[in-house]
Amino acid sequence: MPERALAVITGASSGIGEVFARQLAARGYDLLLSARREDLLRSLAGELSAAHHVSVEIFPADLAEDRPRAALAERIRTSPHFGLLVNNAGFGTKGLFHQAGLQDQDRMHRLHVLTPLVLSHAALGTLLTRTDADGRRGIINVSSVAGFEQSPSNVSYCATKTWLTSFTEGLAIELEIQRSPVKVQALCPGFTYSEFHDVLGMDRGPIPKQFWMSADFVVAESLRGFDRGQLIVIPGWRYKLLSAVIRAVPGPLMRRISAAAARRFRKPKQ
Ligand SMILES: NC(=O)c1ccc[n+]([C@@H]2O[C@H](COP(=O)([O-])OP(=O)(O)OC[C@H]3O[C@@H](n4cnc5c(N)ncnc54)[C@H](OP(=O)(O)O)[C@@H]3O)[C@@H](O)[C@H]2O)c1
Repeated sequence: MPERALAVITGASSGIGEVFARQLAARGYDLLLSARREDLLRSLAGELSAAHHVSVEIFPADLAEDRPRAALAERIRTSPHFGLLVNNAGFGTKGLFHQAGLQDQDRMHRLHVLTPLVLSHAALGTLLTRTDADGRRGIINVSSVAGFEQSPSNVSYCATKTWLTSFTEGLAIELEIQRSPVKVQALCPGFTYSEFHDVLGMDRGPIPKQFWMSADFVVAESLRGFDRGQLIVIPGWRYKLLSAVIRAVPGPLMRRISAAAARRFRKPKQ
C-alpha cells in the first residue's frame, strides 16, 4: 500500500475549502485543515475522519498574520507525508479602491498573495527534495475568473487573483524544466455558492441563476483537472467562454466594457 499523502487546505471551515476537505478525504488523503473558526474545523475533522478512516488534524489560524502563517509553513516542511497544498482562504471587499478600508485590502494582499507564496515555498521545498513524489502531489491555488480582468469595486481582489494565476503559471514552467511529477493548478471559478457573498454582504439577486455553480461541482472539476495535470481550470462552459472572450478582447475595449457594465449595475444613491 502506498503511504497516504497529507493534504493541507486553507480556508477549510466553509465553502470551496470545506468541499475540498470532503472530496480529498473521500480520495484517501489525510488532512490538515486551517481557518480561523476552530469549532467548524473541529466538527468537520470529526465527521471526515469517522466517515473515511483518514487522519484529520486542524490548524486554527488567522493566515493574514505573519506568525501563524510561518507556523503552518513549518508544519508543511516537517510533515513526513505532506503531499498536496490547497491555497484557498480568501475574501472580498466592497467599494471603490479609495473607499474600501485600507486595512481590509492590506489583509487581503497578505492572505491572497503572501500566504500562498510562503506556503508554496514550504510545499515545493519539501516535495522537490523527495524521491517519492507521485501524481497525487502538488499545489492547487484557488484563484478566480476575476483574475482575467479588472472591475470597479473589486480592484485589489482582481489584482491579487491575477497574481495568483500568474504565480502558478510561473511555477509550472519551473517544474516543467525540472521534469518534475509535482503538479500545480490555478483553479479559476466564477460565481460559486458559499459563504463568500454573505461575508461580503453582496446581494446574489442581480446575478442570473445560470451563472451560479455549486462548490461540489467546482471542486470536482478541479480534482479532475489535477488528475490530468491541467494547469488552469475554469469550471463551467459559460465561464470558459467568458474567459476566452475576455482574453481575446483588446485591453482598452475590455476596460470600457467593464466601466459601462459597472455604471449599468450601480445602485442609485438613496
Ligand atoms: N464564491 C465565489 O463565487 C468564488 C469565486 C471565485 C473564487 N473564489 C475563491 O474561493 C476561495 C474560497 O472562497 P469561498 O467561496 O469558499 O468563500 P467562503 O465560504 O467565505 O470561504 C472562505 C474561507 O477562507 C477562510 N478565511 C477567510 N479569511 C481568513 C483568514 N484571515 N485566515 C484564515 N482563513 C481565512 C474562511 O474561514 P474563517 O472565516 O473560519 O477564517 C473560509 O474558510 C477564495 O479564495 C475566493 O476568493 C470564490
